[in-house]
Amino acid sequence: MLFKQQALLRQKLFVLGSLAIGSLLYLVARVGSLDRLQPLCPIDGRFGPRSQDEIPLRALQFKRGLLHEFRKGNATKEQIRLHNLVQQLPKAIIIGVRKGGTRALLEMLNLHPAVVKASQEIHFFDNDENYAKGIEWYRKKMPFSYPHQITIEKSPAYFITEEVPERIYKMNSSIKLLIIVREPTTRAISDYTQVLEGKERKNKTYYKFEKLAIDPNTCEVNTKYKAVRTSIYTKHLERWLKYFPIEQFHIVDGDRLITEPLPELQLVEKFLNLPPRISHYNLYFNATRGFYCLRFNIVFNKCLAGSKGRIHPEVDTSVITKLRKFFHPFNQKFYQITGRTFNWP
Ligand code: A3P
Repeated sequence: MLFKQQALLRQKLFVLGSLAIGSLLYLVARVGSLDRLQPLCPIDGRFGPRSQDEIPLRALQFKRGLLHEFRKGNATKEQIRLHNLVQQLPKAIIIGVRKGGTRALLEMLNLHPAVVKASQEIHFFDNDENYAKGIEWYRKKMPFSYPHQITIEKSPAYFITEEVPERIYKMNSSIKLLIIVREPTTRAISDYTQVLEGKERKNKTYYKFEKLAIDPNTCEVNTKYKAVRTSIYTKHLERWLKYFPIEQFHIVDGDRLITEPLPELQLVEKFLNLPPRISHYNLYFNATRGFYCLRFNIVFNKCLAGSKGRIHPEVDTSVITKLRKFFHPFNQKFYQITGRTFNWP
């Protein structure tokens, strides 16, 4: 009898405990998603009178919960219709540069309640087969969003692919274009490291960076090597400028995004005409990863995958010096065109 009573009591305590934990988790998640950035600051009062740029509170409430479900494909057609969700063509594209920090930039911008990211690289404009499928195919690849939100995609191959500027121009001549750059030699080594890792994964051998970057016949920089060519930013940008005015581009400092992301993100918010919503709260330094990670609310945070932030192989200093000297005049031109100067050697 006593044993039965004890079991009943344990059962009751278990149910009560589960209910309490469940409610607590619900509250925590809800407070976080309502306005995870500045929970104490009323949204409507923060940016003066409501303008076109403002985001209704409704969007904040739903961004992390409902939209997440829709993206996972769990939404019914009825839910999509009820919430006026649409798949919109991007209003801004991160066009490059490969290894500049494109993933970090996209994920960090996605912290903004008015931004919805396309998770995968779509490769619509640089891949002829995809491009032939038409703009509706591209739109269907976009995530669901509210009409006042903006969709952003990133495909770093766009920056260096010949046909892309014209194709994007044909889709939207007033689109905003984001380019994230790093010191060109470091970027080239990062590019090499990614390829090297791919070869190692397949148990293949690969050349040393020095051998690829320097032409053994002339002992000069090998401009045929793709990792070198991609780092000549000005050459690629000049092709884009045949279609878009420089005002439609925003250059992000990828080296600063690593060490001090917030000011870089605030510049992007401004460029995209978004109210400033990304704050210190959303970014925290993770000493184990050695990088900033993302905090959505008190429950959800994430760091980028381990493939971001690889250890680079050591490169001969004379090769580094040669490359830096080689990139120098191109960098000067890049500063001149973009109006953004970097402390690159
Ligand atoms: P490394 O692997 O050379 O360190 P991309 O996304 O364009 O491929 O760029 C990858 C680079 O993003 C990484 O290059 C890394 O340095 C940089 N990066 C910037 N911010 C980061 C972050 N918060 N977490 C991880 N990597 C980040």
